Amino acid sequence: MPSLTADLETAAGIGADPRGGVSRFAWTPELARANEWLMQRLAELGLEVELDPAGNVLGRWQAGAGKAVLLGSHLDTVPNGGRFDGALGVLAALDVVRRLKAAGVEPTRPLWVVSFNDEEGGRFQTGMLGSRAFCGDCDLEDWSGRGVPEAMAEAGFDFARLVDARRLDRVGAYLELHIEQGPVLERAGVDLGVVTAITGMLGFRARFLGEANHAGTTPMELRRDALAGAARAVLALRHEARSRDDMTANVGVITAEPGGFNVVPGAAELTIDVRSPAPKGFARLEPFVRETLERIAAEEGLGLELRETHRKEPAVLDADLQDGLEAAAHDEGASTLRLPSGAGHDATVLAHHVPAAMLFVPSRGGLSHTPEEFSTPEHCELGARALARAVRDLIS
Ligand code: GLV
Ligand code: MN
Ligand code: MN
Repeated sequence: MPSLTADLETAAGIGADPRGGVSRFAWTPELARANEWLMQRLAELGLEVELDPAGNVLGRWQAGAGKAVLLGSHLDTVPNGGRFDGALGVLAALDVVRRLKAAGVEPTRPLWVVSFNDEEGGRFQTGMLGSRAFCGDCDLEDWSGRGVPEAMAEAGFDFARLVDARRLDRVGAYLELHIEQGPVLERAGVDLGVVTAITGMLGFRARFLGEANHAGTTPMELRRDALAGAARAVLALRHEARSRDDMTANVGVITAEPGGFNVVPGAAELTIDVRSPAPKGFARLEPFVRETLERIAAEEGLGLELRETHRKEPAVLDADLQDGLEAAAHDEGASTLRLPSGAGHDATVLAHHVPAAMLFVPSRGGLSHTPEEFSTPEHCELGARALARAVRDLIS
């Protein structure tokens, strides 16, 4: 018997990482295999299946009239990520169609399933490339400088055709089931979360430029150590985020060049991810990052190159859809609470164009973006049933 739990198990085996988690990145054979498997499952349910020019998988139940209700999430992962982040929303969407078909529902409007490509941006820091292309928010000039055209060509896609992935005009609403990726629901002992808003995300790549020199002979006060500048930046970002209640900051990648234990680092590069949930806090992020890094560079005698890599404005989710998801969850016997999301989602992109909403299932220990990520089969199934119920109301 096909089931959401069985599908999650199968998907976790595609792109399984030897370190214990799952690694599926945009434009790679691992993600292509997961997409092919998904397309087969969608076709078995009688949907019209498409792999669009941005690498999004679409399954269309082309019934009734009017704009589609779109359900989905993503199948790509962070490096050595978990098996639920993204996959749950895609496979729950598949499960919703399976349930509605089994119940003999005849939709009055189209119901589409989507797996958006490259939500995590794990390869080129191009997060949400697929949903942005779907919505017509392409940033071609920026993406072309990051190796995306070459990777797409290798995978059989054409960078110039990304703009043809726009399907937004045919969509009336977007719903996404996802794991919470934080501790709130588990701590409250609540079954499901109705998401009110999604945090804004801003990303940079910073490069400090110093002078490579001998580690033993160069007097300490004469060094222009690029890694020392980067280290100060890490701590300054953390300090600011700790002293504000509306900001997070993370440096997830850092490299020093030329990379010798006995060489003063002549260059150091780091990624910066800063987030804030409301427009006012979000607006303060960019000046803070720029001013802080410029001050550190000046004090350390370093050069600085700072390049923005991504920007997703905070999004407010649709009030009516939130009510619908909450009522459906209660009808399924679930307890709920409303909460904002500190993680980014494809729903962030969609919500700036169409009514969008999200439902969360609890994450054990609040863990995510790690192989330890876990949500119980009961909670996943409950979330899918609540989603199916809400969708049934929207398409009846
Ligand atoms: C995606 O999961 C993100 O929040 O970065
Ligand atoms: Mn994620
Ligand atoms: Mn996700």
